[in-house]
Amino acid sequence: MLLKALTALVLALCCINAHANSIMGIDVGSQTFKVGLVRRGAPLEIVVNMHSKRKTETMVLFDQGSRFFGADASSLQTRKPLATPSMMSLLLGRDADHPSVTDLGSKSYPVPFSFNETRQGMEVEVQKAGLYTPEELMAMVLGHARDFTSAFTSDGKATKDPLPKDAVLTVPSFYTQNERTALLTAAELAGLNVLSLIDENTAAALHYGMDRVVPTGETETVMFYNLGATSTQVSVVQYSSYTVKEAGKNKTVGAFEVKSKAWDETCGGTAFDDVIVNYLAGEFNKQWGKGDVKEVPRAMTKLRVQAQKVKEVLSANNKIPIYMEGLHDDLDFKSSLTREDFEAMASDLFDRSSVPISKALTAAGMKIEDIDAIELVGGGMRVPKVQKALEKVTGDKELGMHINSDESMALGAAFHGANISTAFRVRKVGMTDVTMFPVGVRLSSMEAESKGGWFGGKKKDKKDDKEEEEAWSKQATIFKEFGKMGVKKTIAFTHDSDVAVEVVYEESDYLPAGTSSDIVKYNITGVEKFAADMVKKGLGAPKVSIQFELSGSGIVKLLKAEATVEETVEVEVEEEVEDPDAVDEEEEVEEEEVEEEEPVAEEEAAEEEEKKEETEKEAEAASEADADSEEKEKEKEKEEEKETKKKDTKKKKKKPKKKKTKTIKVMKEQKKVHKETLVIDEYYTSKIAPYSKTIMKESIDKLAELAAQDKIRHDLEEAKNALESKVYSIKNYVTEHEEELDQISTAEQREELVALASSTEEWLYDDGYDAEKEAFVSKLAELEAPAEAMFFRLAELTKRPAAVQKCKERLEKMRALMTKWETTMEQVTEEERADVFEKIEKIEKWLEQKLDEQSKLEKWDQPAFKSSEVAPQSKSLELLVTRLSKKPKPKVEKKNETETEAEADEEGSEGGDEL
Ligand SMILES: *[C@@H]1O[C@H](CO)[C@@H](O)[C@H](O)[C@H]1NC(C)=O
Ligand SMILES: *[C@@H]1O[C@H](CO)[C@@H](O)[C@H](O)[C@H]1NC(C)=O
Ligand SMILES: *[C@@H]1O[C@H](CO)[C@@H](O)[C@H](O)[C@H]1NC(C)=O
Ligand SMILES: *[C@@H]1O[C@H](CO)[C@@H](O)[C@H](O)[C@H]1NC(C)=O
Ligand SMILES: *[C@@H]1O[C@H](CO)[C@@H](O)[C@H](O)[C@H]1NC(C)=O
Repeated sequence: MLLKALTALVLALCCINAHANSIMGIDVGSQTFKVGLVRRGAPLEIVVNMHSKRKTETMVLFDQGSRFFGADASSLQTRKPLATPSMMSLLLGRDADHPSVTDLGSKSYPVPFSFNETRQGMEVEVQKAGLYTPEELMAMVLGHARDFTSAFTSDGKATKDPLPKDAVLTVPSFYTQNERTALLTAAELAGLNVLSLIDENTAAALHYGMDRVVPTGETETVMFYNLGATSTQVSVVQYSSYTVKEAGKNKTVGAFEVKSKAWDETCGGTAFDDVIVNYLAGEFNKQWGKGDVKEVPRAMTKLRVQAQKVKEVLSANNKIPIYMEGLHDDLDFKSSLTREDFEAMASDLFDRSSVPISKALTAAGMKIEDIDAIELVGGGMRVPKVQKALEKVTGDKELGMHINSDESMALGAAFHGANISTAFRVRKVGMTDVTMFPVGVRLSSMEAESKGGWFGGKKKDKKDDKEEEEAWSKQATIFKEFGKMGVKKTIAFTHDSDVAVEVVYEESDYLPAGTSSDIVKYNITGVEKFAADMVKKGLGAPKVSIQFELSGSGIVKLLKAEATVEETVEVEVEEEVEDPDAVDEEEEVEEEEVEEEEPVAEEEAAEEEEKKEETEKEAEAASEADADSEEKEKEKEKEEEKETKKKDTKKKKKKPKKKKTKTIKVMKEQKKVHKETLVIDEYYTSKIAPYSKTIMKESIDKLAELAAQDKIRHDLEEAKNALESKVYSIKNYVTEHEEELDQISTAEQREELVALASSTEEWLYDDGYDAEKEAFVSKLAELEAPAEAMFFRLAELTKRPAAVQKCKERLEKMRALMTKWETTMEQVTEEERADVFEKIEKIEKWLEQKLDEQSKLEKWDQPAFKSSEVAPQSKSLELLVTRLSKKPKPKVEKKNETETEAEADEEGSEGGDEL
């Protein structure tokens, strides 16, 4: 039912973009991930991986130069814990002091990680495989997601289609710019085209609201509570609807707006597991009596896997017995845990789990009574005590949990991607997400040394002047907390030297602990040179406009910078003037002036405007959080311009009303705009920085090398599997088809074949165990040759006589035809028919000879001829007869040549006897 409804929500626009055949929504969890998919002719769905599972472990296992993913990695992790990195999303874009990173360190995570100063990010040391950045590891996981999505969409069939590429990835609400950028880098390394990032809860809210329209004029406020693997996130979301005209009809469209977000970065499912791990480790240490099992990665990995099971069982049972064979030091571990004890041990986590609810309500300025529904998403909800803990805060409000609610994030993300992509048309759902982190900008003059010195001697004077004045600097908020995402903002100011721009996170209660305030820095150059050029023209200081974007992915970026100077020039124009005695009417004047392209104003006025804009812009930047789109802003700018123009016009010109006109020549002032696109250089001075070009290249090469290794392994496995399955199929076939095979083979021949299969099988487990691909290929050929020969003979036993029979029939038919044509087709000459007869005989001779040879052979001998040789014998003869059948009739005099030919042709094909 639900699936049916969802199909209607996504409508593929065929063939707009051949590459965008599908869009993935990847819910990138720290422990597992899910892929939602939008594609042509299918409902919005969850991709099933190669193990037929709907979620996949976020994990990579390195073994002898190649990699294993998902369940393949997970099932081997206890054997190779030091070579199985996981939880890489916790290390993306962070340093070793980040709370989530220190938390991971405290949980005896087996793979060592540290901060690398050169790389300005974390790195992970994989046993026997070297150093990897979290971006690289995440890229491997995302690459695996692409691979199994491709296998899923092609239904296991080999396909030449490129791998799916377009995707929307989920991120936790608390991901700051560094973390978001690092995830985008990982996606780039994996070859993904990320249409956008989306907050996990926002994606869930979108999925919830996709097929739900609140009655017009009403709102529904829903709280999304998401206890995930490593964190808890809460969002308050308000649903409403609005009416649009579609095909002349009024249509109600659903929309939602995120009101607030709150979280606990380290209170997640694995924190609960960790409580159990610590308990079990303590119990084991008591029994072992020889040290701390926490120092033993393999044992700890086993305990962690066990703890997950224990937690699951305790969700439904009051007690679980625990038995682990040979946990460490050949010691079996026996223990048990009750739900009550578990709940007592994890009590602070249960307390913490509801705190984000209160925080989110406070941030939204709401009380729990204002919430119409609470939706639980994420996988951590299975613990009953968590629900009890929530009920303390939520009172008697029902906690809604829809089936597979932890898939709603992947599905919502895929839907969002389809909404962005031009290749799909989706049901309209208005979505407004907000940023929780206020972003500010600091502007200052660039250091004199870096200016490049195009003034020569003059530069020094200028600098001295400057030092006398106070150093120029400005500061403004560009994106406020709770401000919309996916907006642009322009700042404009009058300035005559190059500008240093620092984009920073401003102080906020919401900014995660340990987040550096630095986001990114820019040097904007070209202002000084441009200003100097303007001075030479006798013009004033330029107006510098810089435009910032806070993307839908939550990334802040300087998009463009421009300097302009307006020059007022006098031009002679012809003008129609009306009767000077008429009464002035200002309204009219204003309107006309507004419509004119070139505003008329004096230089002072222009400067005034600039100053006005400068101050206004800054004020706006500082005070207005919800200048929601560029268009809106442009409109505002225009509005301001209009205002200015109106004022100017009112001062300058009065326009008579009456229609009596005459043309006169007047000098008119017009504005000419000098414009310069400024150069933007991006750089980072903070501890953590995004990938540099050099590191990017390193990573690309590294991943390509690993992919090549994987391919070698993959090809080897394929060759091995092919040989293995040949061994079994031969053995099976010989035993199952004994009777039939007896017709064309001796018992010895069959025994020989089975013996060869058996010796190959032995080889597979012996020398073949670590053989090269070539060895498997040649073994397969050796085995195939005698088997194919025998199976072929069996097939030929029936095919060969059938082919002979068919051939003979054809020859008879042609012979009869020749006799018939003697009277019906005069245009076919005697010679031609004789030729056909001769050829028929020749073929009959060939058949006779072959049948004779075959009759002298034993059935198990290699046949004298193959069925496939028969049909080609008569091929050329058949073509000849067909040609003759189309031979034109003799010319008829009345008709001219072209007509005759056409008719003959027609008759030939119509009346020709079928072969
Ligand atoms: C740090 O990263 C750089 C660049 O990837 C690498 O060359 C270097 O070996 C790393 N240093 C350490 C100490 O791991
Ligand atoms: C659509 O809505 C508008 C304004 O709400 C209303 O004036 C109009 O009559 C409606 N049209 C239809 C077809 O319902
Ligand atoms: C879909 O796109 C439209 C147009 O850009 C936008 O207004 C709307 O909010 C988007 N909705 C979603 C769910 O992405
Ligand atoms: C930007 O300018 C500063 C000095 O003002 C200089 O130290 C830095 O290297 C420059 N960065 C780039 C990327 O040009
Ligand atoms: C043949 O007939 C066609 C159509 O009747 C005519 O156009 C053409 O000129 C004729 N050709 C000759 C060679 O008479």
